[in-house]
Amino acid sequence: MHWTALVLALGLLAVTVALDNGLMRTPPMGWLAWERFRCNVDCEHDPRNCIRQQLFTDMADRLSEDGWRELGYVYVNIDDCWSSMQRDQRGRLQADSKRFPGGIRRLSRYMHDRGLKLGIYGDMGTHTCGGYPGTPLDKIEVDAQTFAEWEVDMLKLDGCYSNATVQAQGYPRMSKALNATGRPIGYSCSWPAYQGGLPPKVDYSLLAKICNLWRNYGDIQDSWTSVLNIVDWFFDNQEVLIAAAGPGRWNDPDMLIIGDFGLSMEQSRSQMALWAIMAAPLFMSNDLRTISSGARSILQNKMAIRINQDPLGLQGRRILKEKSNIEVFWRPLSNDASALVFFSRRDDMPYRYQTSLSKLNYTTGIYKIYDVFSGRTMILKDLVSFVVSVNPSGVVMWYVSAPAKPRTLSRQFSRDDRLGGFFRGYLANGIPQVFL
Ligand code: GLA
Repeated sequence: MHWTALVLALGLLAVTVALDNGLMRTPPMGWLAWERFRCNVDCEHDPRNCIRQQLFTDMADRLSEDGWRELGYVYVNIDDCWSSMQRDQRGRLQADSKRFPGGIRRLSRYMHDRGLKLGIYGDMGTHTCGGYPGTPLDKIEVDAQTFAEWEVDMLKLDGCYSNATVQAQGYPRMSKALNATGRPIGYSCSWPAYQGGLPPKVDYSLLAKICNLWRNYGDIQDSWTSVLNIVDWFFDNQEVLIAAAGPGRWNDPDMLIIGDFGLSMEQSRSQMALWAIMAAPLFMSNDLRTISSGARSILQNKMAIRINQDPLGLQGRRILKEKSNIEVFWRPLSNDASALVFFSRRDDMPYRYQTSLSKLNYTTGIYKIYDVFSGRTMILKDLVSFVVSVNPSGVVMWYVSAPAKPRTLSRQFSRDDRLGGFFRGYLANGIPQVFL
Protein backbone atom coordinates (compact mmCIF):
# COMPACT_ATOMS: atom_id res chain seq x y z
CA MET A 1 0.00 0.00 0.00
CA HIS A 2 1.28 3.46 -0.86
CA TRP A 3 1.97 5.45 2.28
CA THR A 4 -0.64 8.13 1.49
CA ALA A 5 -3.24 5.41 1.21
CA LEU A 6 -2.09 4.08 4.54
CA VAL A 7 -2.42 7.50 6.16
CA LEU A 8 -5.84 7.88 4.61
CA ALA A 9 -6.91 4.47 5.85
CA LEU A 10 -5.69 5.22 9.35
CA GLY A 11 -7.51 8.54 9.24
CA LEU A 12 -10.70 6.81 8.23
CA LEU A 13 -10.21 4.33 11.02
CA ALA A 14 -9.92 7.18 13.48
CA VAL A 15 -13.14 8.83 12.41
CA THR A 16 -15.25 5.70 12.27
CA VAL A 17 -14.74 4.45 15.82
CA ALA A 18 -18.25 5.55 16.78
CA LEU A 19 -21.45 4.13 15.34
CA ASP A 20 -21.73 5.88 12.03
CA ASN A 21 -25.25 7.27 12.38
CA GLY A 22 -24.08 10.76 13.36
CA LEU A 23 -26.32 10.74 16.44
CA MET A 24 -25.70 11.63 20.05
CA ARG A 25 -22.43 13.51 19.61
CA THR A 26 -23.09 14.69 23.16
CA PRO A 27 -24.79 12.49 25.77
CA PRO A 28 -28.51 12.14 25.04
CA MET A 29 -30.93 13.89 27.42
CA GLY A 30 -34.57 13.31 28.14
CA TRP A 31 -36.99 11.29 30.17
CA LEU A 32 -37.38 7.54 30.54
CA ALA A 33 -40.34 5.81 32.13
CA TRP A 34 -38.79 2.81 33.83
CA GLU A 35 -37.41 3.68 37.25
CA ARG A 36 -40.38 5.79 38.32
CA PHE A 37 -43.29 4.03 36.61
CA ARG A 38 -42.00 0.46 36.11
CA CYS A 39 -44.41 -2.05 34.65
CA ASN A 40 -47.55 -0.53 36.11
CA VAL A 41 -50.24 -1.57 33.67
CA ASP A 42 -53.16 -1.21 36.08
CA CYS A 43 -54.80 1.68 34.29
CA GLU A 44 -58.16 0.87 35.81
CA HIS A 45 -57.04 1.61 39.36
CA ASP A 46 -54.07 3.86 38.73
CA PRO A 47 -54.77 5.74 35.50
CA ARG A 48 -52.37 8.56 36.26
CA ASN A 49 -49.33 6.37 36.79
CA CYS A 50 -49.81 3.44 34.47
CA ILE A 51 -47.86 2.85 31.27
CA ARG A 52 -50.13 4.30 28.62
CA GLN A 53 -50.27 6.96 25.95
CA GLN A 54 -51.23 9.74 28.33
CA LEU A 55 -48.26 9.25 30.62
CA PHE A 56 -46.00 10.02 27.68
CA THR A 57 -48.03 12.94 26.34
CA ASP A 58 -48.17 14.38 29.88
CA MET A 59 -44.39 14.20 30.15
CA ALA A 60 -44.02 15.69 26.68
CA ASP A 61 -46.22 18.60 27.72
CA ARG A 62 -44.10 19.21 30.78
CA LEU A 63 -40.83 18.95 28.82
CA SER A 64 -42.01 21.45 26.25
CA GLU A 65 -43.78 23.86 28.60
CA ASP A 66 -41.57 23.89 31.69
CA GLY A 67 -38.25 24.80 30.13
CA TRP A 68 -36.75 21.32 29.81
CA ARG A 69 -36.63 21.03 26.04
CA GLU A 70 -34.61 24.21 25.60
CA LEU A 71 -32.02 22.81 27.97
CA GLY A 72 -31.63 19.68 25.85
CA TYR A 73 -34.04 17.25 27.49
CA VAL A 74 -35.72 16.11 24.26
CA TYR A 75 -36.15 12.35 24.38
CA VAL A 76 -39.36 10.89 25.78
CA ASN A 77 -38.65 7.21 26.12
CA ILE A 78 -41.01 4.34 26.56
CA ASP A 79 -39.58 1.40 28.48
CA ASP A 80 -40.95 -2.10 29.05
CA CYS A 81 -44.63 -3.16 29.08
CA TRP A 82 -45.88 -1.02 26.19
CA SER A 83 -46.71 -3.79 23.77
CA SER A 84 -49.50 -6.22 23.26
CA MET A 85 -48.75 -9.77 24.41
CA GLN A 86 -49.09 -10.91 20.81
CA ARG A 87 -47.52 -9.85 17.55
CA ASP A 88 -50.02 -8.96 14.80
CA GLN A 89 -51.01 -11.32 11.95
CA ARG A 90 -48.03 -10.16 9.91
CA GLY A 91 -45.67 -10.94 12.79
CA ARG A 92 -45.01 -7.35 13.78
CA LEU A 93 -44.88 -5.90 17.29
CA GLN A 94 -47.92 -3.85 18.18
CA ALA A 95 -48.71 -1.55 21.09
CA ASP A 96 -51.31 -2.58 23.65
CA SER A 97 -54.42 -1.24 21.98
CA LYS A 98 -56.23 -0.26 25.18
CA ARG A 99 -53.37 1.64 26.70
CA PHE A 100 -52.02 3.09 23.44
CA PRO A 101 -55.15 3.68 21.37
CA GLY A 102 -53.30 5.70 18.74
CA GLY A 103 -50.41 3.27 18.55
CA ILE A 104 -46.80 4.32 18.74
CA ARG A 105 -47.06 6.33 15.54
CA ARG A 106 -49.43 8.76 17.20
CA LEU A 107 -47.00 9.24 20.05
CA SER A 108 -44.03 9.91 17.76
CA ARG A 109 -46.10 12.50 15.91
CA TYR A 110 -47.01 14.09 19.25
CA MET A 111 -43.32 14.33 20.17
CA HIS A 112 -42.18 15.62 16.80
CA ASP A 113 -44.89 18.30 16.77
CA ARG A 114 -43.34 19.62 19.97
CA GLY A 115 -39.70 19.41 18.95
CA LEU A 116 -39.19 16.26 21.03
CA LYS A 117 -38.10 12.74 20.15
CA LEU A 118 -39.59 9.35 20.97
CA GLY A 119 -37.67 6.36 22.26
CA ILE A 120 -38.90 2.79 22.47
CA TYR A 121 -37.82 -0.40 24.22
CA GLY A 122 -37.19 -3.91 22.97
CA ASP A 123 -35.32 -7.00 24.08
CA MET A 124 -32.75 -9.18 22.33
CA GLY A 125 -34.42 -12.40 23.47
CA THR A 126 -37.64 -14.34 23.52
CA HIS A 127 -39.25 -11.98 26.05
CA THR A 128 -38.60 -8.57 27.57
CA CYS A 129 -37.60 -8.50 31.23
CA GLY A 130 -41.26 -7.79 32.04
CA GLY A 131 -42.45 -10.82 30.04
CA TYR A 132 -43.65 -9.03 26.89
CA PRO A 133 -42.70 -10.21 23.38
CA GLY A 134 -38.98 -9.92 22.67
CA THR A 135 -37.06 -9.68 19.43
CA PRO A 136 -35.54 -13.08 18.65
CA LEU A 137 -32.88 -13.19 15.92
CA ASP A 138 -35.31 -13.85 13.09
CA LYS A 139 -37.41 -10.81 14.03
CA ILE A 140 -34.64 -8.22 14.12
CA GLU A 141 -35.15 -6.79 10.64
CA VAL A 142 -38.92 -6.66 10.84
CA ASP A 143 -38.81 -4.95 14.25
CA ALA A 144 -36.24 -2.39 13.09
CA GLN A 145 -38.47 -1.69 10.10
CA THR A 146 -41.54 -1.34 12.32
CA PHE A 147 -39.77 1.14 14.63
CA ALA A 148 -38.65 3.16 11.62
CA GLU A 149 -42.17 3.20 10.17
CA TRP A 150 -43.44 4.45 13.51
CA GLU A 151 -40.82 7.22 13.23
CA VAL A 152 -39.20 6.31 16.49
CA ASP A 153 -35.91 8.12 17.28
CA MET A 154 -34.22 5.78 19.73
CA LEU A 155 -34.25 2.13 20.72
CA LYS A 156 -33.17 0.64 24.05
CA LEU A 157 -32.50 -3.03 23.45
CA ASP A 158 -32.51 -5.07 26.64
CA GLY A 159 -31.08 -8.56 27.08
CA CYS A 160 -33.39 -10.65 29.26
CA TYR A 161 -34.27 -14.16 28.08
CA SER A 162 -31.36 -14.43 25.69
CA ASN A 163 -27.88 -15.91 26.00
CA ALA A 164 -24.33 -14.85 25.20
CA THR A 165 -24.40 -16.39 21.72
CA VAL A 166 -27.67 -14.79 20.75
CA GLN A 167 -26.51 -11.44 22.12
CA ALA A 168 -23.23 -11.61 20.20
CA GLN A 169 -25.17 -12.08 16.99
CA GLY A 170 -28.18 -9.97 17.76
CA TYR A 171 -26.78 -6.66 19.02
CA PRO A 172 -24.60 -6.03 15.93
CA ARG A 173 -27.35 -7.29 13.66
CA MET A 174 -29.90 -4.86 15.12
CA SER A 175 -27.39 -2.05 14.59
CA LYS A 176 -27.17 -2.94 10.91
CA ALA A 177 -30.92 -3.34 10.63
CA LEU A 178 -31.56 0.09 12.17
CA ASN A 179 -29.05 1.70 9.80
CA ALA A 180 -30.62 -0.11 6.88
CA THR A 181 -33.99 1.52 7.57
CA GLY A 182 -32.48 4.88 6.60
CA ARG A 183 -34.02 6.51 9.65
CA PRO A 184 -31.56 7.85 12.23
CA ILE A 185 -32.38 5.86 15.37
CA GLY A 186 -30.19 6.18 18.45
CA TYR A 187 -29.24 2.75 19.71
CA SER A 188 -28.88 1.92 23.41
CA CYS A 189 -27.49 -1.55 24.07
CA SER A 190 -27.89 -3.32 27.40
CA TRP A 191 -25.49 -6.01 26.17
CA PRO A 192 -22.44 -5.20 28.37
CA ALA A 193 -24.60 -5.18 31.51
CA TYR A 194 -25.42 -8.82 30.74
CA GLN A 195 -21.72 -9.63 30.27
CA GLY A 196 -20.61 -8.25 33.62
CA GLY A 197 -19.54 -4.88 32.17
CA LEU A 198 -15.80 -5.55 31.86
CA PRO A 199 -13.29 -6.91 29.38
CA PRO A 200 -12.37 -9.51 28.29
CA LYS A 201 -16.05 -10.46 28.15
CA VAL A 202 -17.09 -6.98 26.99
CA ASP A 203 -15.52 -5.70 23.79
CA TYR A 204 -15.85 -1.94 24.14
CA SER A 205 -14.34 -1.14 20.76
CA LEU A 206 -16.99 -3.27 19.10
CA LEU A 207 -19.73 -1.63 21.18
CA ALA A 208 -18.50 1.80 20.14
CA LYS A 209 -18.95 0.80 16.51
CA ILE A 210 -22.46 -0.56 16.87
CA CYS A 211 -24.18 1.35 19.72
CA ASN A 212 -24.56 5.01 20.70
CA LEU A 213 -24.78 4.19 24.40
CA TRP A 214 -24.77 1.12 26.54
CA ARG A 215 -25.78 0.05 30.00
CA ASN A 216 -22.69 -1.35 31.71
CA TYR A 217 -24.12 -2.26 35.07
CA GLY A 218 -27.22 -3.08 37.13
CA ASP A 219 -30.45 -1.12 37.41
CA ILE A 220 -30.73 2.05 39.43
CA GLN A 221 -33.34 2.02 42.20
CA ASP A 222 -34.89 4.89 44.14
CA SER A 223 -32.28 5.07 46.90
CA TRP A 224 -28.96 6.69 47.77
CA THR A 225 -27.50 3.22 48.37
CA SER A 226 -28.24 2.38 44.76
CA VAL A 227 -26.65 5.61 43.48
CA LEU A 228 -23.53 4.96 45.58
CA ASN A 229 -23.30 1.40 44.36
CA ILE A 230 -23.34 2.61 40.75
CA VAL A 231 -20.87 5.42 41.45
CA ASP A 232 -18.47 2.94 43.09
CA TRP A 233 -18.59 0.55 40.18
CA PHE A 234 -18.14 3.22 37.52
CA PHE A 235 -15.21 4.93 39.22
CA ASP A 236 -13.54 1.73 40.38
CA ASN A 237 -13.50 0.68 36.73
CA GLN A 238 -12.88 4.12 35.29
CA GLU A 239 -9.79 3.32 33.21
CA VAL A 240 -11.66 0.81 31.07
CA LEU A 241 -14.79 2.94 30.83
CA ILE A 242 -13.12 6.27 30.05
CA ALA A 243 -11.35 4.71 27.08
CA ALA A 244 -14.65 3.46 25.69
CA ALA A 245 -16.57 6.75 25.76
CA GLY A 246 -16.61 9.64 23.32
CA PRO A 247 -18.93 11.52 20.95
CA GLY A 248 -21.61 9.12 19.73
CA ARG A 249 -20.62 6.36 22.20
CA TRP A 250 -21.43 6.68 25.89
CA ASN A 251 -21.32 4.61 29.04
CA ASP A 252 -24.74 4.69 30.67
CA PRO A 253 -24.82 4.48 34.48
CA ASP A 254 -28.65 4.51 34.22
CA MET A 255 -31.37 7.07 34.93
CA LEU A 256 -31.39 10.19 37.08
CA ILE A 257 -33.69 9.61 40.05
CA ILE A 258 -33.65 13.26 41.13
CA GLY A 259 -37.21 14.33 41.93
CA ASP A 260 -38.27 10.92 43.21
CA PHE A 261 -38.40 9.71 46.82
CA GLY A 262 -34.98 8.32 47.66
CA LEU A 263 -32.59 11.25 47.51
CA SER A 264 -32.13 14.32 49.68
CA MET A 265 -31.32 17.63 47.99
CA GLU A 266 -27.61 17.13 48.73
CA GLN A 267 -27.71 13.65 47.24
CA SER A 268 -29.62 14.94 44.22
CA ARG A 269 -26.87 17.48 43.57
CA SER A 270 -24.34 14.69 43.93
CA GLN A 271 -26.07 12.54 41.35
CA MET A 272 -26.28 15.46 38.92
CA ALA A 273 -22.63 16.41 39.45
CA LEU A 274 -21.27 12.89 39.12
CA TRP A 275 -23.38 12.09 36.06
CA ALA A 276 -22.06 15.31 34.48
CA ILE A 277 -18.46 14.34 35.31
CA MET A 278 -19.08 10.89 33.78
CA ALA A 279 -20.44 12.35 30.51
CA ALA A 280 -23.45 10.16 31.22
CA PRO A 281 -26.72 10.23 29.31
CA LEU A 282 -29.19 12.32 31.32
CA PHE A 283 -32.46 10.45 31.30
CA MET A 284 -34.66 11.54 34.16
CA SER A 285 -37.11 9.02 35.52
CA ASN A 286 -39.43 11.05 37.67
CA ASP A 287 -42.86 12.65 37.61
CA LEU A 288 -42.45 15.97 35.85
CA ARG A 289 -46.08 16.84 36.68
CA THR A 290 -45.39 17.07 40.39
CA ILE A 291 -41.63 17.59 40.67
CA SER A 292 -40.49 19.96 43.43
CA SER A 293 -38.88 23.24 42.51
CA GLY A 294 -35.71 22.16 44.33
CA ALA A 295 -35.28 19.01 42.26
CA ARG A 296 -36.17 20.90 39.11
CA SER A 297 -33.54 23.55 39.68
CA ILE A 298 -30.87 20.88 40.12
CA LEU A 299 -31.90 19.09 36.92
CA GLN A 300 -32.14 22.41 35.09
CA ASN A 301 -28.78 23.72 36.30
CA LYS A 302 -27.29 25.22 33.15
CA MET A 303 -23.66 24.84 34.08
CA ALA A 304 -24.05 21.22 35.18
CA ILE A 305 -25.73 20.53 31.84
CA ARG A 306 -23.06 22.45 29.95
CA ILE A 307 -20.38 20.36 31.63
CA ASN A 308 -22.25 17.15 30.87
CA GLN A 309 -22.70 18.22 27.25
CA ASP A 310 -19.15 19.38 26.62
CA PRO A 311 -18.39 18.79 22.92
CA LEU A 312 -15.05 17.07 23.54
CA GLY A 313 -17.00 14.24 25.12
CA LEU A 314 -14.21 13.06 27.40
CA GLN A 315 -15.45 11.10 30.38
CA GLY A 316 -14.07 12.38 33.69
CA ARG A 317 -12.33 10.51 36.46
CA ARG A 318 -11.88 10.26 40.21
CA ILE A 319 -8.48 11.77 40.97
CA LEU A 320 -8.39 11.50 44.76
CA LYS A 321 -9.85 9.38 47.52
CA GLU A 322 -8.93 11.02 50.82
CA LYS A 323 -8.84 9.31 54.19
CA SER A 324 -11.28 11.97 55.31
CA ASN A 325 -13.85 10.38 52.97
CA ILE A 326 -13.71 13.27 50.57
CA GLU A 327 -13.29 12.31 46.94
CA VAL A 328 -12.26 14.59 44.11
CA PHE A 329 -13.37 14.13 40.51
CA TRP A 330 -12.10 15.92 37.44
CA ARG A 331 -13.22 16.17 33.84
CA PRO A 332 -11.31 17.87 31.02
CA LEU A 333 -13.51 20.16 28.93
CA SER A 334 -13.13 21.96 25.64
CA ASN A 335 -11.10 25.21 25.43
CA ASP A 336 -8.73 24.00 28.15
CA ALA A 337 -11.43 24.33 30.78
CA SER A 338 -12.28 21.59 33.25
CA ALA A 339 -14.77 20.58 35.90
CA LEU A 340 -14.04 19.58 39.49
CA VAL A 341 -16.30 17.84 41.97
CA PHE A 342 -15.57 17.56 45.68
CA PHE A 343 -17.78 14.81 47.06
CA SER A 344 -18.28 13.89 50.71
CA ARG A 345 -19.05 10.35 51.80
CA ARG A 346 -19.18 11.52 55.39
CA ASP A 347 -22.24 11.48 57.61
CA ASP A 348 -21.31 13.91 60.35
CA MET A 349 -21.27 17.56 59.31
CA PRO A 350 -20.03 19.83 56.52
CA TYR A 351 -16.35 19.07 56.05
CA ARG A 352 -13.83 21.82 55.38
CA TYR A 353 -11.58 20.31 52.75
CA GLN A 354 -8.38 22.21 52.16
CA THR A 355 -6.36 21.89 48.99
CA SER A 356 -5.01 23.94 46.06
CA LEU A 357 -5.35 23.68 42.32
CA SER A 358 -1.69 22.73 42.01
CA LYS A 359 -2.29 19.84 44.42
CA LEU A 360 -5.04 18.78 42.03
CA ASN A 361 -2.52 18.69 39.15
CA TYR A 362 -3.38 22.08 37.67
CA THR A 363 -0.56 23.87 35.88
CA THR A 364 0.77 27.28 36.85
CA GLY A 365 -1.67 30.07 36.17
CA ILE A 366 -4.67 32.00 37.31
CA TYR A 367 -8.03 30.32 37.06
CA LYS A 368 -11.55 31.63 37.05
CA ILE A 369 -13.91 29.43 39.01
CA TYR A 370 -17.65 29.20 38.67
CA ASP A 371 -19.37 27.33 41.49
CA VAL A 372 -22.07 25.33 39.71
CA PHE A 373 -24.66 25.14 42.48
CA SER A 374 -24.13 28.46 44.26
CA GLY A 375 -23.43 30.55 41.17
CA ARG A 376 -20.52 32.28 42.90
CA THR A 377 -17.42 33.08 40.93
CA MET A 378 -13.87 33.60 42.07
CA ILE A 379 -10.30 33.81 40.92
CA LEU A 380 -7.76 31.26 42.12
CA LYS A 381 -4.02 31.03 41.57
CA ASP A 382 -2.74 27.51 41.24
CA LEU A 383 -0.66 27.64 44.42
CA VAL A 384 -3.22 29.35 46.60
CA SER A 385 -4.62 27.13 49.25
CA PHE A 386 -8.42 27.17 49.50
CA VAL A 387 -11.12 25.49 51.53
CA VAL A 388 -14.38 24.06 50.24
CA SER A 389 -17.11 23.13 52.65
CA VAL A 390 -18.72 19.87 51.50
CA ASN A 391 -21.97 18.72 53.10
CA PRO A 392 -22.56 15.07 54.11
CA SER A 393 -23.40 13.04 50.95
CA GLY A 394 -23.16 16.29 49.02
CA VAL A 395 -20.88 17.94 46.51
CA VAL A 396 -19.22 21.18 45.60
CA MET A 397 -18.91 21.42 41.84
CA TRP A 398 -16.75 23.87 39.92
CA TYR A 399 -16.33 24.88 36.33
CA VAL A 400 -12.68 25.91 36.00
CA SER A 401 -11.60 28.14 33.12
CA ALA A 402 -8.43 27.74 31.09
CA PRO A 403 -5.44 29.11 33.00
CA ALA A 404 -4.45 32.69 32.31
CA LYS A 405 -0.93 33.99 32.76
CA PRO A 406 -0.94 36.93 35.17
CA ARG A 407 0.11 39.35 32.39
CA THR A 408 -2.60 38.29 29.97
CA LEU A 409 -5.35 38.19 32.55
CA SER A 410 -7.05 41.43 31.62
CA ARG A 411 -7.05 40.46 27.95
CA GLN A 412 -8.65 37.14 28.86
CA PHE A 413 -11.27 38.92 30.89
CA SER A 414 -12.33 41.25 28.14
CA ARG A 415 -12.52 38.32 25.74
CA ASP A 416 -14.81 36.55 28.16
CA ASP A 417 -16.91 39.64 28.42
CA ARG A 418 -17.27 39.84 24.65
CA LEU A 419 -18.40 36.24 24.69
CA GLY A 420 -20.93 37.07 27.37
CA GLY A 421 -18.88 34.90 29.72
CA PHE A 422 -19.97 33.62 33.08
CA PHE A 423 -17.71 35.91 34.97
CA ARG A 424 -19.10 39.26 34.01
CA GLY A 425 -20.90 39.86 37.27
CA TYR A 426 -17.80 39.29 39.25
CA LEU A 427 -15.53 41.10 36.84
CA ALA A 428 -17.70 44.16 36.85
CA ASN A 429 -15.97 45.28 40.01
CA GLY A 430 -12.65 44.63 38.29
CA ILE A 431 -10.77 43.43 41.37
CA PRO A 432 -9.46 39.88 41.21
CA GLN A 433 -10.19 38.21 44.52
CA VAL A 434 -9.74 34.87 46.11
CA PHE A 435 -12.58 33.57 48.23
CA LEU A 436 -11.45 31.24 50.93
C1 GLA B 1 -34.14 -4.38 32.82
C2 GLA B 1 -33.47 -3.05 32.49
C3 GLA B 1 -34.27 -1.90 33.09
C4 GLA B 1 -35.69 -1.95 32.56
C5 GLA B 1 -36.31 -3.29 32.87
C6 GLA B 1 -37.66 -3.44 32.19
O1 GLA B 1 -34.08 -4.66 34.20
O2 GLA B 1 -32.16 -3.02 32.93
O3 GLA B 1 -33.66 -0.67 32.78
O4 GLA B 1 -35.69 -1.69 31.19
O5 GLA B 1 -35.49 -4.36 32.41
O6 GLA B 1 -38.28 -4.64 32.47
